[in-house]
Amino acid sequence: MALLISVSEFWEDEKIWRQCVQTELPEMDVRVYPDDGDVNEIKYLAVWKHPHGILRKYPNLKAILSLGAGVDHILSDPDLPEGIPIVRLVDKKLTHEMCFHALHWVLHFHSGHYLYMNQQLERKWLQQASIQPEDSTVGIMGLGHIGKAIGESLVHQGFKVLGWGANQKPSLRDIQYFFGGDKLGVFLQKTDILIIVLPLTKSTNNILRKKELKRLPKGAFVINMGRGGIINELDLLSLLDEGHITAAALDVFEQEPLLINSPLWTNPSIYITPHIAGQSNPKSSAKTIAENIRRIDNGEAPFPVYDMTKGY
Ligand code: OXD
Repeated sequence: MALLISVSEFWEDEKIWRQCVQTELPEMDVRVYPDDGDVNEIKYLAVWKHPHGILRKYPNLKAILSLGAGVDHILSDPDLPEGIPIVRLVDKKLTHEMCFHALHWVLHFHSGHYLYMNQQLERKWLQQASIQPEDSTVGIMGLGHIGKAIGESLVHQGFKVLGWGANQKPSLRDIQYFFGGDKLGVFLQKTDILIIVLPLTKSTNNILRKKELKRLPKGAFVINMGRGGIINELDLLSLLDEGHITAAALDVFEQEPLLINSPLWTNPSIYITPHIAGQSNPKSSAKTIAENIRRIDNGEAPFPVYDMTKGY
């Protein structure tokens, strides 16, 4: 029985992935694409942005496991084999990194560090008024596993936290939850710092256009660490230029890597990171992947499996 790993050219550590998966699954023949050997032996694929078209090469496939939190990189392959479960990656270390990334930018904006960076360029000594966290409302779009962890860590720091999602969910103790398209406007109106951790689906694609972003109060901040396609980049640029949105921290983009001539690179109110908000940790992810493979081999369902009706 063999497991094949395929990672994007922007991840340099395929050997580390192989080593970590092999350690967790000593009996498994772990291979790295394109060295897939006898295709009939491949039972599992563990992928991050694999070359499209390869998934149908393996006739005895039992599951496709994502090496990242999202699965849109798998679903975007037009040659997806039917009836093979796609397993998402929910990993403690990745979630923790996402919380750090969110906290970093929330504090950068909330505590005025973006202003001090500009003041330094002008050698200007000016102490900005300190704002208390309870006077800032952070709105999180996407209150799944990661969004909830981010929300709880911000509540712990004293921020007022709201959540928005497409589906009804039980209320959380300290996070007011809004759901459904007709509640999106109210949620945005109350949000000073918007964090996006939604998955990219048919219904979230381009969900934040000018009309929706204008519902944010003037002076709001945006942190996108979900998917680029969720926010309309041109509309965001135009609202930054108008001063309606003060600044944005973007980790994900409609097209990745971000095109060299994209106007986002040079906008002084945009902070860019290259999709690093939650980097998959090979050691801990390999444990999660191994647990799921053992489950499947024992005839149990892996967790969490991509749900076509929800789109994630
Ligand atoms: C993702 C990830 O899915 O980085 O974006 O894990």
